[in-house]
Amino acid sequence: MKVAVIGAGLMGSGIAQTCAQAGYEVKNIDVFEPAIEKAKVNIEKLFAKKVAKGSMTEAQKNEIFERMTYSSNMEDVRGAGIIIEAVPEKIELKKSVFKQLDKAADPETIIVSNTSGLSISEMAAATMRPHKVMGVHFFYPAPVMKLAELIRGIATDDDTYSKVRGFVISIKKTVVDAPEYPGFIVNRILVPMQNEAAFMVMEGCKPEDVDNAMKLGANHPMGPLELTDFVGIDVMLATMTGLYNGFHDSKYRPCPLLETMVKAGHLGRKTGQGFYKYD
Ligand code: CAA
Repeated sequence: MKVAVIGAGLMGSGIAQTCAQAGYEVKNIDVFEPAIEKAKVNIEKLFAKKVAKGSMTEAQKNEIFERMTYSSNMEDVRGAGIIIEAVPEKIELKKSVFKQLDKAADPETIIVSNTSGLSISEMAAATMRPHKVMGVHFFYPAPVMKLAELIRGIATDDDTYSKVRGFVISIKKTVVDAPEYPGFIVNRILVPMQNEAAFMVMEGCKPEDVDNAMKLGANHPMGPLELTDFVGIDVMLATMTGLYNGFHDSKYRPCPLLETMVKAGHLGRKTGQGFYKYD
């Protein structure tokens, strides 16, 4: 079976890499060509490091590259058995992408979204195949993180669910069933913790104190602020805002410091400045 991944950003390119590493032929599609160029450079750098470190051979690297192709044309989803959408977290954009994919894809093709909290049912409703749509939420960095959350939309049928479940297990992820509510499981618990850490910085705590406390006192691999810089402050704020708007509950109130940082362009590692400075 061939796989198409829509979006060549951090998540899309990582998901495409994950599928190729598991043996699938993957087409990574992004209408914004510079995103494709950036994805190619990043993966080449990553693989060069792995080869130098000895965790991947030159032959394995070449084999994986052979299975990965890129395109800027959405029509190239034709022939794919499954399409994984990983475009930015904006519902109108996602709906428009789903509409285009529905027209371009073969009738039997399943379309899944990597959304971290938007409504699967709403995206499905933009297609003529809502029973063949569901959510598969990967975590960053997708090739490393072992989990994928499976989210059924209101119309997802059993056949689609079992095919997608089998596929996600075949790319070596452990699956959990998550409810179709904002944040699913992981982000509903993780992101309010990151938000709380941002409140503590707003109240005057040093980021390194908050992070060291959680790393050494709770055994987290990264502190909550380090993690926020890692995934992107804009991405984390959007997820928190999604919880707030989705549950209509003030307990999910986004930290105003995050909003200020996003307005200032302090988005974390990707812009060189977040809670910490990066070279
Ligand atoms: N992309 C692909 N692979 C990567 C990578 C990346 N960005 N970063 C690291 N790796 C790979 C390396 O290639 C290496 O692989 P090999 O062992 O095959 O060589 C392996 O990961 C370990 O790398 P390092 O030794 O450099 O790094 P580390 O041991 O410090 O681990 C980490 C790095 C895995 C990211 C670890 O710090 C970690 O688990 N952090 C927490 C990540 C986390 O919580 N993610 C969830 C974010 S929330 C989210 O994603 C939800 C959302 O919707 C926003």
